[in-house]
Amino acid sequence: MSTLKLFSLAALVLALGASAAFAEGPEVGAPVSDQDLARYFAIQPDGEGLPPGSGTVSAGAKVYGERCAACHGDKLQGVPAAGGPALVGGRGTLASPKPVKTVESYWPYASTLYDYVWRAMPFDQPGSLSPDEVYAVSAYILSKAGVVGEDATMDAKSLPKVEMPNAKGFYDGRGPDLSLYHAER
Ligand code: HEC
Repeated sequence: MSTLKLFSLAALVLALGASAAFAEGPEVGAPVSDQDLARYFAIQPDGEGLPPGSGTVSAGAKVYGERCAACHGDKLQGVPAAGGPALVGGRGTLASPKPVKTVESYWPYASTLYDYVWRAMPFDQPGSLSPDEVYAVSAYILSKAGVVGEDATMDAKSLPKVEMPNAKGFYDGRGPDLSLYHAER
């Protein structure tokens, strides 16, 4: 048999095999759960995407001490040698010649704090915190930033209600092109 014929035969066998396999379903993988899917979407400012669970400031102090302080400092002041930036302070400096951008001074939404910590922190073990731990450490950071009280509890309802100091420091930068997509607004 010529090489070409052999090749065609092989292709035919493969094609038949593949169609048979598709008829039955590939039988690999598993259906995507809502929980898995949620990992691909950012938590929205209105709280959409926040999981069940809750955490207090005092529980957050423990999480912070064990999992964050080495890189962000015991006063949340940052540890330059570890690369961890300050998480609090800097309020009122944004329009100055030396702006200090922190969660406290810059971030417009508390939901972003949850989303970021959940995805990216601790830097050396991202994704290792439970929802309760992320709520708790967010409550702790927000309380040290003077944004919520020391008795605050954060959950899917209370977190989106937190008004961040710089919430009104951004303006809607959508240009004329993007406005076409939001014509009905
Ligand atoms: C091993 C060091 C390390 C640990 C531990 C760590 N971080 Fe970080 N963190 C970093 C670094 C480095 C950055 C800057 C990352 C970047 O800019 O890409 C950062 C950035 C952040 C930011 C964003 C700050 C900003 O204004 O951009 C937050 C919020 C934060 N970390 C919270 C936490 C919390 C909460 C924990 C504990 C659960 C934690 N981090 C543990 C190193 C660490």
